[in-house]
Amino acid sequence: MAFLRRLFAKERTELTVELRERIRRSFEEAAADEEHFPSTIDPRIQHVRVILETFGPLDGKRVLDAGCGKGRFGRAILAEQPGARIHGMDLALAMLHHVQPPLFAAAGSLTALPYKDGAFDCAYATESLEHAVDIDLGVAELCRVVKPGGRIVIIDKNKDHWGKLETSEWERWFGREEMTRMLARHCREVSSRPISYWEDVEPDGMFLVWIATR
Ligand SMILES: C[S@@+](CC[C@H](N)C(=O)[O-])C[C@H]1O[C@@H](n2cnc3c(N)ncnc32)[C@H](O)[C@@H]1O
Repeated sequence: MAFLRRLFAKERTELTVELRERIRRSFEEAAADEEHFPSTIDPRIQHVRVILETFGPLDGKRVLDAGCGKGRFGRAILAEQPGARIHGMDLALAMLHHVQPPLFAAAGSLTALPYKDGAFDCAYATESLEHAVDIDLGVAELCRVVKPGGRIVIIDKNKDHWGKLETSEWERWFGREEMTRMLARHCREVSSRPISYWEDVEPDGMFLVWIATR
């Protein structure tokens, strides 16, 4: 039995490594697709506003953008909070190529963040955790690197809307309660709500935002 358990554990690890590499290669290629993976974002979009409003003044504060892609959120935040020190972290180097100073950039995985415990004052992840495969671990890592009292914002797609968009074979969307439970294991306060792109448009429920305090 012990032998079989070791064999299955090894197989799971190798499967994950192989899958992670496939995901990385897919995003290395996707970086050339500016239409679907844009390098800019309209700062009026609610996804940007909610991060700025949740974090408040960011002068001298260290902020993590986990799964930052081309860094479009980081640049939009920096334009309004030029004193922030925003670190973009992503799996794909071709995405990180767009993350230039004054943004900081690092290659790594959401499930093994290349930062010390409590390295950041706050952190956000927009449409990246859905690709993390081991979601529990991704959430635990995001929380680990934020200081006690720091805020965390996750914006991702709602599992209730699964099937409405084309998805990758590894992608997972989250239920409101499901992500709340994962965050609540590490955070003292968690809230969530549907979010739309524009302030004057009712959310259709496709996107959810979770806001947590470490
Ligand atoms: C849909 S894009 C979103 C990018 C960015 N957050 C944005 O909203 O513009 C997903 C990003 O997550 C990154 N990603 C996927 N799996 C990852 C992992 N395990 N660790 C770090 N980044 C990952 C991809 O390389 C890609 O840049």
